[in-house]
Amino acid sequence: MKPIYYLILLSILFACNQEAEEGNTDSSAAVDVGGGERFRPAFHFTPPSAWMNDPNGMVYYEGEYHLFYQHYPDDNVWGPMHWGHAVSVDLVNWEHLPIALYPDSLGYVFSGSAVIDWDNTSGFGKDGIPPMVAIFTHHDPEMETAGFDLFQYQSVAYSLDKGRNWALYEGNPVLDNPGIRDFRDPKVFWYSQESKWVMTLAVKDRVHFYTSADLKSWEFLSEFGADDGAHDGVWECPDLFMLPDEDGDEKWVLLVSVNPGGPQGGSATQYFIGQFDGSEFIKEDDYTRWLDVGADNYAGVTWSDIPAEDGRRLFIGWMSNWQYARDVPTYNWRSAMTIPQELRITYVKGSPEVRSVPVNELDTLFVPKNGSKLASSGSKLSIEGINGSFITVQFSNGGGEEVTLMVSETHISLDRSKSGIVNFHPDFKKIHRFKHYMEVVKTLDVYIDRSSLEIFANGGELLMTELVFPSEPYSDYTVSTGDFKITLSHYTGPDLAEL
Ligand code: FRU
Repeated sequence: MKPIYYLILLSILFACNQEAEEGNTDSSAAVDVGGGERFRPAFHFTPPSAWMNDPNGMVYYEGEYHLFYQHYPDDNVWGPMHWGHAVSVDLVNWEHLPIALYPDSLGYVFSGSAVIDWDNTSGFGKDGIPPMVAIFTHHDPEMETAGFDLFQYQSVAYSLDKGRNWALYEGNPVLDNPGIRDFRDPKVFWYSQESKWVMTLAVKDRVHFYTSADLKSWEFLSEFGADDGAHDGVWECPDLFMLPDEDGDEKWVLLVSVNPGGPQGGSATQYFIGQFDGSEFIKEDDYTRWLDVGADNYAGVTWSDIPAEDGRRLFIGWMSNWQYARDVPTYNWRSAMTIPQELRITYVKGSPEVRSVPVNELDTLFVPKNGSKLASSGSKLSIEGINGSFITVQFSNGGGEEVTLMVSETHISLDRSKSGIVNFHPDFKKIHRFKHYMEVVKTLDVYIDRSSLEIFANGGELLMTELVFPSEPYSDYTVSTGDFKITLSHYTGPDLAEL
């Protein structure tokens, strides 16, 4: 048999087997003999194959943006966690690299961060090469099954060759479990004012801060969040960073993912704005803010070590939701990342809010087109002149599938109940609504890829990220009558699906 036929046959068998295993009764999913490859995004990062969840260890070093990720290379559902790895010179083209970290005798390799230890505080550096240090959670599944609470603790590993090869520190774990079941996802940064490292850690439904001089021994600083924000689930993947506001005044942002308890059910990322004095985070107000009011942006954190001359705070999230992440109708691979975004602080009705803006590297790849058809490689639809009026935007294909976005003076809503394959999970069909806080909605920018919509209102004041699985790509759009200025651009960059 020719290898190509053999591969097709294998993927048919794999796809059928998965549907049987998951009890998928959606007939349209059953005809996807391509293993979901037609849903593989053109301009969003996906793993080469198998399962992916959270982005991990994002760090910039010597011209490369590193993206590690939670990965189970042996199946398309969550399992023993590894750190997959990719690099990019421009945040748009990604080169897949070999797996960076494997499960070991201390457990699975859960989420965490990476930093460049410029001053070699850890002593891992050699011959003047500063080490790239990964700080992550080891999760011991046997201890968990045995009913002990101590199964998550923090460890470190380092690389001296730009993240290609990693050595585990022989003194692991560097932060032992104090007897708390959920004790994970360390995000570390250098607090230059006091020349020390600070770790933000998710602990049950709150955050703990620790400090260290050498990344190897850690001391507790303070706790935040017992009575703040959303608490319907466990807190995960926190990230604390300084972000100047529009006037250049110093603000500190604390991102915290929560699962469940998001605005559309399931998982989502909340954030707090305040001040950090080197030991404590003090929030500015009691308002619960969401980074994204859609269903599919979770566990996102920001890049470390972006050069000062760039100065951006760059973010990427996992474009899925724990409610149905394991069931989405892609079989050869599961899950994509959001588009990379720059976070800024903007004032809305006098209150500071984080604004998410697609990185400009991506925008240069969208070229304005005349005509009214969406491109199958992905498009961007920009609408200006809304000025508070009620607007409906609909995307559809020849197969009668459609997704409808509505924005009024007070609400944003998205109906994906007829968007394509929807029956793989009961929660996927729910209509998503959010009472927004924008003063007046003036613009919408919608990025449409093969299985997602990312909607940026008022240049990122509000963001809504949603997965969709149309049987064929949406080819048409309609915008309700009004004096709107519409610009359609087609994605003309590299097709990541073809990597
Ligand atoms: C978030 C999360 C993290 C954990 C990882 C395990 O999605 O649950 O808290 O480290 O996924 O894969």
